[in-house]
Amino acid sequence: MIRALVLLIAAIGTAGATGPAATDFTLNTSCPPGFEKTKAGVCELRTLYQFYDSLENRGLGGTRTALPPHRDGFTPYQIDLGRYLFFDPVLSGDGTLSCASCHDPARGLSDGRARSIGIHGEDAGRAAPTLWNVAFLKRFFWDARANSLEAQAPGPLYSPREMGNSPTQLLASLNGNATYRRLFQEAFPGQRGPIAEKEVFTALAAFQTSLVSLNSRYDRYAHGYDAALSDREIEGLNVFRSFVARCSECHTPPLFTNEQIAVIGMPEPEGHTFDVGAEAILHSPKLKGAFKVPTLRNITRTAPYSHSGAFADLRGVVDFYNKGRGNAVPKDMHLYLHWHISDPKLTDTEVDRIVDFLGALTDETFLPQTPARVPSGLAPTKRGE
Ligand code: HEC
Ligand code: HEC
Repeated sequence: MIRALVLLIAAIGTAGATGPAATDFTLNTSCPPGFEKTKAGVCELRTLYQFYDSLENRGLGGTRTALPPHRDGFTPYQIDLGRYLFFDPVLSGDGTLSCASCHDPARGLSDGRARSIGIHGEDAGRAAPTLWNVAFLKRFFWDARANSLEAQAPGPLYSPREMGNSPTQLLASLNGNATYRRLFQEAFPGQRGPIAEKEVFTALAAFQTSLVSLNSRYDRYAHGYDAALSDREIEGLNVFRSFVARCSECHTPPLFTNEQIAVIGMPEPEGHTFDVGAEAILHSPKLKGAFKVPTLRNITRTAPYSHSGAFADLRGVVDFYNKGRGNAVPKDMHLYLHWHISDPKLTDTEVDRIVDFLGALTDETFLPQTPARVPSGLAPTKRGE
């Protein structure tokens, strides 16, 4: 009996190590672009925004404002291990979905769908947010229900509507794979024993904090290169940060989010039930329909828009703000709309200029490289494509 068990474990071990030879995979020894390796061997972010001191006294929506604190300080090994995990469908219950299936580098680190689709073909209920600049966030998910990347990870991994895995199966498949055992040893040298869930979450977080986008044409303009924006885009920026449109009250530069949760009354798409958002988490009726203010970085890459994909294009979203307070909320429903959701009465031209400006927030220069192969031997990224 014991002998049979030992053989079984040995067999699982070998099965996991089949596919590419275990020695094929090496972890990057240098930091991702935009990061500098310190003497201690960890990666630290370098950006021009670090030269600006604070958000104070700069005027709202001002250009030379500092960034909020961020996560960094991971080793290049942890970041690169996280990259393999992120693209490896072995993380899902049936080996069909990786994180990158819904946070696809080719689709602005989102999935191009109104709402994501999980392993069983089920509607996940909400849109996949972009992962650009998550290193700067303190609250995660549309309803802000997780407060770190590590606390966020079990969400998609174990939700039956997303990756449908379990902690037991996740750890069994990673520990049954000789390549992963070796790579985790390299990334977490002090650790003894089998791969632990905590290390999986740390590596995923390490990789995600390397997804930094702060070098768009807007940023070059912000750092003083006036010619980086066209006249139309500058006009758009000025409307965006005016007290008439009030966009930058919530989508505050440089991240283009202030990370608050706000009730703005965006509609659900036809036939989709009303999502109460943060009310379900914080149990305050004032938060019925409240969602975290999303970043607008790389926004041209992540249509359709809103928590449930109600808007096909940017013109549609900006028009929503222009059509008056609460116009999209069902008549019999009372929402406590945020006071900055006013009736700005923008002209069609002003709306167009805002849309032009949003196009200047695109920067994908630090897009991570999709690994050609992942340690499980499964095809990286795609759902069976
Ligand atoms: C089936 C598609 C799908 C997969 C696979 C998936 N996600 Fe997501 N992700 C989503 C959706 C949808 C949300 C928003 C859910 C919500 O707010 O309730 C989300 C939210 C997030 C957020 C929060 C971002 C923010 O700004 O609040 C992070 C971080 C994240 N996912 C990382 C990951 C990681 C890491 C993996 C792999 C372990 C992963 N996701 C796998 C669809 C997916
Ligand atoms: C009171 C805060 C607030 C103000 C003011 C505001 N927004 Fe938003 N914005 C939000 C929130 C919250 C969401 C997410 C709502 C949802 O999905 O239901 C959002 C969503 C968006 C989206 C979709 C993002 C995505 O990834 O799907 C765009 C684009 C956008 N806003 C642009 C603007 C523009 C342009 C203005 C000014 C005309 C503006 N916002 C003013 C809070 C605000």
